[in-house]
Amino acid sequence: MAVPVAINATHLRPVDTRKDLPEIADLIELCFASTMDADGREYIRQIRRMAFESRGINLPIPGSRPISVPIQGYVWLENNRIVGNLTLIPYFKNGRVVYMIANVAVHPEFRRRGIARQLTQQGMNHARDHGAAAAWLQVRDDNRGAENLYLSLGFLERARRTNWSFDPAGQSTLPLPHLVSIRRRTTNDWHMQRRWLQEIYPPEIAWNLPFQIGRVQPGLWRNLIRWMNGERMEHWSAWLGDRLLGAAAWEPGNVITDMIWLATNPLDEDLAAQALLTHARRIIPRNRPVTVNFPAGIAEEGIRAAGFHANNTLIWMEAPFSGAGANP
Ligand SMILES: CC(C)(COP(=O)(O)OP(=O)(O)OC[C@H]1O[C@@H](n2cnc3c(N)ncnc32)[C@H](O)[C@@H]1OP(=O)(O)O)[C@@H](O)C(=O)NCCC(=O)NCCS
Repeated sequence: MAVPVAINATHLRPVDTRKDLPEIADLIELCFASTMDADGREYIRQIRRMAFESRGINLPIPGSRPISVPIQGYVWLENNRIVGNLTLIPYFKNGRVVYMIANVAVHPEFRRRGIARQLTQQGMNHARDHGAAAAWLQVRDDNRGAENLYLSLGFLERARRTNWSFDPAGQSTLPLPHLVSIRRRTTNDWHMQRRWLQEIYPPEIAWNLPFQIGRVQPGLWRNLIRWMNGERMEHWSAWLGDRLLGAAAWEPGNVITDMIWLATNPLDEDLAAQALLTHARRIIPRNRPVTVNFPAGIAEEGIRAAGFHANNTLIWMEAPFSGAGANP
């Protein structure tokens, strides 16, 4: 049974970046140990490095537009020790400020006392007081406890997205599906590719992914500018005879994983995903971490057939603030 803890300045306070970061890194590492992937470990390393360098931390997701600020959030203290944490990341989403709530973590010895509830409530209050249209967060679909907490605080499910990865131990020479061929993506393919990309990575999702449709668009000048900026991107299309099944773009990441942006014909999702990702495995070096972010439950069979495995499925939740008119 929950033992209620009263909000109290001695327990709950804003993060102090000058001194809290090492303890926050330890707490996040402890609380997310069972689910932490390579990106998570890199994130912890970044927090520790920032702590060491004694300056604020900025957590950009390439392609999105986080506002540049030092780490923000709240911590919960017991006997001067940090036992709870919540991180707040402001973003511009379709021209409005929203806050992403992340790293909600409570030390195992202090759970079920209402600490996460009060931290989350405080994070929502902070966002609202700073003029945000909404608070957002992402929770794994197998984390029912946390999901219940957020539902009880007014968060609503907006999307479910699965993050898929290469299985590095798997074969990279799987055959393409029967009669399917892979070709260089051409300008003629763009019309359909754009339409499918807009369905798979709509604005409601793209704002918090390292995705910008303009970067996938073909064009000589765009290619030249990308090349001058040292950006590299590969594109290919999958065909069944003269029928376009889909197209893919491989975008190497600098800090975090490489991404593959999949545009699949809704009538051939599994076949398209299988062909495009089988080709990806052939051309992308094995040692590179690669992620495909895709709507949960779509093309799963095809993605698996290409040797990918699901890392996690995240429920994207939004708490729209009244009067702000957030648009689901
Ligand atoms: C999830 C977590 C932050 C909850 O912290 P907490 O301080 O124990 O949560 P609270 O005491 O405020 O719980 C509030 C409500 O959430 C739900 N809840 C929390 N933990 C739960 C669990 N293990 N099982 C079922 N429901 C749970 C309950 O509805 C609870 O209300 P109740 O205690 O009155 O039944 C904590 O378990 C944790 O750090 N987990 C590991 C990291 C993590 O998963 N973070 C969430 C990432 S999105």
